[in-house]
Amino acid sequence: MKMFARAVSLACIAAVPVLAHAQFAKPQDAIRYRQAVMTVMGSHFGRLAPYARGDKPLDAADIQANVALVSAMAKLPWNAFGPGTQTDKVEDSIWSDSAKFKQAADRLQGDVAKLEAAAQSGDQAQLRTAYGAVAASCKACHDSFRKR
Ligand code: HEC
Repeated sequence: MKMFARAVSLACIAAVPVLAHAQFAKPQDAIRYRQAVMTVMGSHFGRLAPYARGDKPLDAADIQANVALVSAMAKLPWNAFGPGTQTDKVEDSIWSDSAKFKQAADRLQGDVAKLEAAAQSGDQAQLRTAYGAVAASCKACHDSFRKR
């Protein structure tokens, strides 16, 4: 019975990406979700700034905890940019040039993977470089796709 429950829950986890577009009952739910994810990502990314600048002695546990949250968040918002979720805070090119938007999201996730490696390394110079690359990824996408 336990095995069965486990198999079912694993099957559900495996099905999540396929169902992602149907996760939100209303466009407003998707918009709130992606903004909340961005806010959490921004908060935990910001907590890394003093380490990256060299203003705070490296605390490996704190750095790794914040990087893990940035990494988890970096996977989430993209499915919440579904059809019908346009607002005055986002550029229509998210939909008309969706390949470029996806590329920007992939770039972020690639840079966050390097940030995870830097967080493991305990090396300040490596952390600074990786942090800068992620910040540039955030900015590049915002410059192209976010309206203020
Ligand atoms: C691939 C594109 C993309 C990347 C990469 C990206 N963002 Fe965003 N971000 C957006 C878009 C689009 C919005 C506007 C979303 C909306 O209002 O629906 C946004 C909004 C935000 C907001 C405002 C949320 C709110 O409450 O309105 C914050 C904060 C934010 N991003 C932080 C970040 C940080 C920090 C990074 C990098 C670690 C990042 N973003 C990477 C596209 C991106």
